[in-house]
Amino acid sequence: MLGPVLLAASRSDRMRRVVASAPVTRPVVQRFIAGDDLAPALDTVRALTASGLHVTLDHLGEDVTDRATAQATRDAYLKLLETLAGAGLAERAEVSVKLSAFGQALPDGGHDIALENVRPVAELAGEHGTTVTLDMEDHTTVDSTLSVLRELRREHPGTGAVLQSYLFRTEDDARALAVEGSRVRLVKGAYKEPGSVAFQDRREVDRAYVRALRILFEGEGYPMVGSHDPRMIAIAQELAARTGRAPGTYEFQMLYGIRTAEQRRLAEAGERMRVYVPYGADWYGYFMRRLAERPANLAFFLRSFAPGR
Ligand code: FDA
Repeated sequence: MLGPVLLAASRSDRMRRVVASAPVTRPVVQRFIAGDDLAPALDTVRALTASGLHVTLDHLGEDVTDRATAQATRDAYLKLLETLAGAGLAERAEVSVKLSAFGQALPDGGHDIALENVRPVAELAGEHGTTVTLDMEDHTTVDSTLSVLRELRREHPGTGAVLQSYLFRTEDDARALAVEGSRVRLVKGAYKEPGSVAFQDRREVDRAYVRALRILFEGEGYPMVGSHDPRMIAIAQELAARTGRAPGTYEFQMLYGIRTAEQRRLAEAGERMRVYVPYGADWYGYFMRRLAERPANLAFFLRSFAPGR
């Protein structure tokens, strides 16, 4: 019940000011965010990769409404990629980007501005032997994001996409993307979507996840299983066995701070396991989506407001 309220709050500027300025918020945020800037995030990447995990880094930010901030996002990613390469981490660390932070939502020509800003990021990633994955945001952005993906894949075929199983359209998108060299992260979906475009019942979302997973594993591309759900992980492993895929021809992905023991267990069992590591000062939207996903996270957050803490 609370999930939709929190998702609505994730886009409220007033709530952003209240939550972001509350001193008690910080320790809870730290569970999910690897720091306000690159230096602590890099320490996290070093620790994760040293323990056999792979990483995708997200410089936090979304819903940018002016060109200068969109360019600043591009510059932050260019700096991130140079830093990863300089530290010898580019082999195990890629980056995830939200096109709304690159200008996609700007009223005049947002799509083209986002493409123009993200292209140099894909180029630099390629030069350093790593990749970019385009996160997927709310359903109004899917066509634009997949079109940017097609453009980038011309020169950088390893550019990754994200598909959300809660959207009715996703099986078709999965079929279109299950092609040689195509990297697709399948997730359940984290935004508040209307019943006209998305399943509302969690069981339906799960069933749709399995259908799309099957398409991706049976296809020619590189499936990236973005889920903490033990059932989805078990099904992915069954599909890998059934389709004769060895570890490394697909991978698992989980978010930083969530089911960390399971992340290690999968890596130790020989699976490729990638951790999505968000960092940066603009953590509010990301943080609220994590609270919305799980009532226990919200309870943990609210307890931190209790007197004496
Ligand atoms: P589900 O929500 O059913 O949870 C299954 C189990 O996982 C829970 O019972 C619990 O044990 C654990 N768990 C799940 N969420 C938790 C949380 N927040 N805190 C603690 N435990 C939790 N979405 C999107 O719309 N666009 C995107 O680009 C991405 N990108 C992305 C990358 C990666 C690497 C991951 C793992 C996820 C995303 N997502 C996303 C988020 C995704 O859509 C979804 O909201 C979350 O992954 C939660 O769904 P699960 O599949 O984990 O299952």
